[in-house]
Amino acid sequence: MLLRRAHNLVCYWRDGAFVIQNYLGGSEVSLAPMAADLLAAFTDWTTVDEAVTMFPDHDPDSCRAALAELHAYGFLVSEDERERDDRLAEHWETWSPEAGALHFSSKDAPYTESPEVNEDFRAGKRPALFKNYPAADRILLPRAPLDVDAGFVRTLYARRTHRAFSRAELPLPVLSGLLAMVFGPSEFLDGHDFGALMKRTSAAGGSRHELEAYVAVSAVEGVTPGLYHYNVLEHSLELLDPAFTRERATHLSFDQEAVAEAPVTVFLTAVVERMSSKYRAPRAYRVMLMNAGHLAQTFALTATALGLGPFQTAAFRDSELEDALGVDGIAETALYVLAAGIPAADGRDGEPTAGLDAFRRAALYPGDHA
Ligand SMILES: Cc1cc2nc3c(=O)[nH]c(=O)nc-3n(C[C@H](O)[C@H](O)[C@H](O)COP(=O)(O)O)c2cc1C
Repeated sequence: MLLRRAHNLVCYWRDGAFVIQNYLGGSEVSLAPMAADLLAAFTDWTTVDEAVTMFPDHDPDSCRAALAELHAYGFLVSEDERERDDRLAEHWETWSPEAGALHFSSKDAPYTESPEVNEDFRAGKRPALFKNYPAADRILLPRAPLDVDAGFVRTLYARRTHRAFSRAELPLPVLSGLLAMVFGPSEFLDGHDFGALMKRTSAAGGSRHELEAYVAVSAVEGVTPGLYHYNVLEHSLELLDPAFTRERATHLSFDQEAVAEAPVTVFLTAVVERMSSKYRAPRAYRVMLMNAGHLAQTFALTATALGLGPFQTAAFRDSELEDALGVDGIAETALYVLAAGIPAADGRDGEPTAGLDAFRRAALYPGDHA
């Protein structure tokens, strides 16, 4: 059987141990550094027998055993196993290994509580919430409120994350307006070599607008529940899966109540090539995440202005979500989950405001002992 070294590998030392990671396949194993020499023999398609002859000083049987192990870990791939490895190498070529390793190795992470973290905080191991320069000269700033648009200020301070929603159906014009104001074009600019480029109400690096919105409708007047793609240019919802349920959306978001109750959940993905075709250095990956943050904030503020409660989460089952959306997770990958609905009026939706006691349990400035 012909084997080749997987494209998507990184090697490093951790606590003195040599580690090889396939950031697509998810394997991360500490091995003898000799493993790197063995892998180096597989730049081109090679058989195990050919490779063994390249290591005359080593026992052929132990070489074979080591190669079988490297294959089992996914560090070597056969012709049958190459498809996703090749696809990732192609679509993330100029962003890898730096951004590719970060993105793919942090996919499908479990969503768990860490009691030891709470324990550490209770024990006083907490970073200061604020930074200050006690010895620096200071200018005390005027506290008089500025004369800005009152509606905007109201929206800004009214925005908060909501996690409990009314079961009432959302009026379609509200959803339609939300999608248009957040994801629809506000204008098109002439990008010269790059042609016409969309602008949105959110800034986006290079105006590449690589982010797509998939809308899971659970309770919107006149809209059959299901999974839709928001067609930006047409301002339409394209039905992808009428069998997609509220329960599925909830499962994909690690059973979070907010998604279980929201009439609408929006899954944001990135079409990577739209960004990487122009910005070829891995730093552009950071810009892509910033862009997602901008869109999410605009979503939250717009939802608030429309009388809705916004929600957002980074806790989702990446691969299952990508399967549900019908995207491959490589050329197009899931980034963020947003939701909105009419806030529940029964008192379930809200968090306690910090009282004096909570401040006493916090470290405000560096050096404070709570
Ligand atoms: C990137 C991101 C991820 C978040 N993930 C979750 C989440 O998984 N579950 C949740 O209940 N809230 C989540 N939140 C909401 C935060 O907990 C919330 O913004 C924070 O407590 C401050 O409250 P506020 O949004 O009401 O100001 C997330 C917020 C952001 C920006």
